[in-house]
Amino acid sequence: MKAVVVHEVGRFAVEQVEIDRPKAGEVRVKMAATGVCHSDLSVINGTIPQPFPVVLGHEGAGVVEEIGENVNNVKVGDHVVMSFIPNCGRCAHCVRGEAFLCRSTPPKGMMADGTSRLRLGDKPLAVFCALGNMAETVVCPAISLVRIPNDVPLTVAALIGCGVTTGVGAAINTAKVVPGSTVAVFGCGGVGISTIQGARIAGAARIFAVDVSPEKLALAKRFGATDGVLAADAAKSIMEQTKGMGVDYAFEAIGNAAVVEAAVGVTRRGGTTVAVGVGKFTDNIKLNALVFPLSGKTLCGCMFGSANPQHDFPKMLDLYRGGRLDLDGMVTKTYSIDEAPQAFADLESGVNARGVIVFP
Ligand SMILES: NC(=O)c1ccc[n+]([C@@H]2O[C@H](COP(=O)([O-])OP(=O)(O)OC[C@H]3O[C@@H](n4cnc5c(N)ncnc54)[C@H](O)[C@@H]3O)[C@@H](O)[C@H]2O)c1
Ligand SMILES: [Zn+2]
Ligand SMILES: [Zn+2]
Repeated sequence: MKAVVVHEVGRFAVEQVEIDRPKAGEVRVKMAATGVCHSDLSVINGTIPQPFPVVLGHEGAGVVEEIGENVNNVKVGDHVVMSFIPNCGRCAHCVRGEAFLCRSTPPKGMMADGTSRLRLGDKPLAVFCALGNMAETVVCPAISLVRIPNDVPLTVAALIGCGVTTGVGAAINTAKVVPGSTVAVFGCGGVGISTIQGARIAGAARIFAVDVSPEKLALAKRFGATDGVLAADAAKSIMEQTKGMGVDYAFEAIGNAAVVEAAVGVTRRGGTTVAVGVGKFTDNIKLNALVFPLSGKTLCGCMFGSANPQHDFPKMLDLYRGGRLDLDGMVTKTYSIDEAPQAFADLESGVNARGVIVFP
């Protein structure tokens, strides 16, 4: 079967790989759709270090083909969304209601028993986020799967596995945006657009979308942004338009420390800045030791929209069915797996809300 494999920083290709049957606690899933998230690109360019060779993909949906022993949360034929964080339900984080911080992702891109189910020639392959679902078929932990109703299109369901839940969750769960508030979202890709939608759903009165691309600002308005601001003008424009106050909540959805600092800058005294984007290990966020504490601001990190996949994935689908969360509009372009290089080129040039690889 075909899979997108990163061989080393900067070099990836669609490869023909061998896949084994699922072992205990594992499930084989025939992929229907895989979203192209910036975190996959960050594996290719080395921002997110991974053991190579690694199969990309962590935002997807498909149909269960085979279950290993001791699997009782899904059965053959079920439609599933894959969570990029597995949920064991037992670790210290799961039991205190922080499923998004679950510790059960096996190390080194392997399965829980320390081995791989994938080979390229005779070389075992690692998988990203215990999934590696930028592939025609996946063997993954059963605890990575959330069953969904069969009538939801799998192409839109895929986005719930990472970007949508992260972005909507950043607004609703992490920041807990309240009705009537003011919001700024830096970066209008899949995650930022989802954050904008989350803020709209939460009843924000004013949502400033910030991006380097004018096309992205126009796109953001379709999803609920009330104002579009080019990144170069963001600080001045947002401060002016909020009468020098700043916004109640600012989100960074790019992965750039300087932009996190800019987001803190436009957050009002006492307000909250949420860092969602994942930047380089060598990039540090700087805050002034005198000004920051006296401003009473909160800066918090956001992992996976502070979500519990078992609870929040169905919630996202309910919002979608109710017409409040636009997922169809977010799928800007679909690609075959052979077109993965083009999908990443398009992600880099920022033309899509979300590109999605679809499987026949
Ligand atoms: N915290 C989490 O759990 C989590 C989950 C998923 C993704 N992420 C991270 O979120 C980030 C966004 O992911 P995505 O898939 O939406 O990416 P994307 O590439 O689709 O979107 C990024 C957007 O930022 C814009 N941008 C780039 N530089 C900018 C700047 N200086 N100022 C303003 N806008 C700028 C781009 O034009 C683009 O529209 C990535 O860092 C990704 O790794 C984090
Ligand atoms: Zn992602
Ligand atoms: Zn856990």
